[in-house]
Amino acid sequence: MTPEQLEQNFDAKLQRNESIEPKDWMPDNYRKHVIRQVSQHAHSEIVGMLPEGNWITRAPSMRRKMVLIAKVQDEAGHGLYLYSAAETMGISRDELLDQLHTGKAKYSSIFNYPTLTWADIGAIGWLVDGAAIMNQVMLQRTSYGPYARAMVRICKEESFHQRQGYEIMQVLSKGTVAQKEMAQDALNRWWWPSLMMFGPPDAESPNTANAVKWKIKRESNDQLRQRFVNTTVPQAEYLGLTVPDKDLKWDESKKAYDFGTPDWEEFNNVIRGNGPCNKERLGARVGAHKKGAWVREAAAAYAEKKNKKAAA
Ligand code: 3HC
Repeated sequence: MTPEQLEQNFDAKLQRNESIEPKDWMPDNYRKHVIRQVSQHAHSEIVGMLPEGNWITRAPSMRRKMVLIAKVQDEAGHGLYLYSAAETMGISRDELLDQLHTGKAKYSSIFNYPTLTWADIGAIGWLVDGAAIMNQVMLQRTSYGPYARAMVRICKEESFHQRQGYEIMQVLSKGTVAQKEMAQDALNRWWWPSLMMFGPPDAESPNTANAVKWKIKRESNDQLRQRFVNTTVPQAEYLGLTVPDKDLKWDESKKAYDFGTPDWEEFNNVIRGNGPCNKERLGARVGAHKKGAWVREAAAAYAEKKNKKAAA
């Protein structure tokens, strides 16, 4: 087939909503785009384990500790599915991790904020996992097959994460005055960074046009952000908490909330590496990777020995 025919086939598959599979022909830029997005997503999952992991030893009860351990472990699993999906594009795990460790690849801005109180664990589940699901539901239909299939399982688990976070917030907001204040303080600190998770406004998003054309993203950053606000504000009202946005108001004609503008300068600063915890997070990941070298070496030596035995 000529290059033109290959491209026509690829476009026709997308038109028919068929998934693109690892051995299919695809434009180089599509491959690069998917590797970039899937690997950033994988990095977000494993860096996201750090702020929550900080609270495992301080969880307020055995039940809370068990649930939090399970949640953090789920995130590691999500990272593994996503690294595997990225590897089907022909890039190695080592290369992907190297991109994270050298700061070449991004991970979600949200994980560069500190978890100061137990209520932050509730707010992360409710808002951060809530925002993640809002985005990831559409990714179950993303055009790259291995990514879409990984997202089906991830969404089920994220949905449980969101509920456990909301339940923590419910308990705190119906608790003592001090507990309710703690819940409000967590909402105040996590609200705007959660809105930033959806990425820059559409007009300033360099990747959205191609992502939508190639059906990698099915909806834009602003569409998803709006849906998140519409869904989450009534949940905050139910808790008796106040969303920290003086411009927030329901617009009956649009059947949607108008809301204020996130601080995009803060967002850009965080993704450039200058957020409150960027250095700590990256330092922890690089340190864990170095400490784990002996495990990788032992596994490789064992596999080599096994292969030699099988070949003999
Ligand atoms: N944090 C860090 N970087 C971000 C960002 C964020 N919140 N939002 C955008 N960016 C980066 C982009 O990666 C891009 O950088 P690059 O070109 O150097 O790669 C740049 O800012 C411009 O943004 P675009 O809008 O053009 O980028 P995208 O079209 O890729 O949209 C996205 C950004 C919405 C995050 C998209 O990549 C996406 O949907 N990714 C998959 C989902 C994902 O990564 N989620 C992470 C959330 S956390 C999570 O899932 C863990 C869970 O346990 C909570």
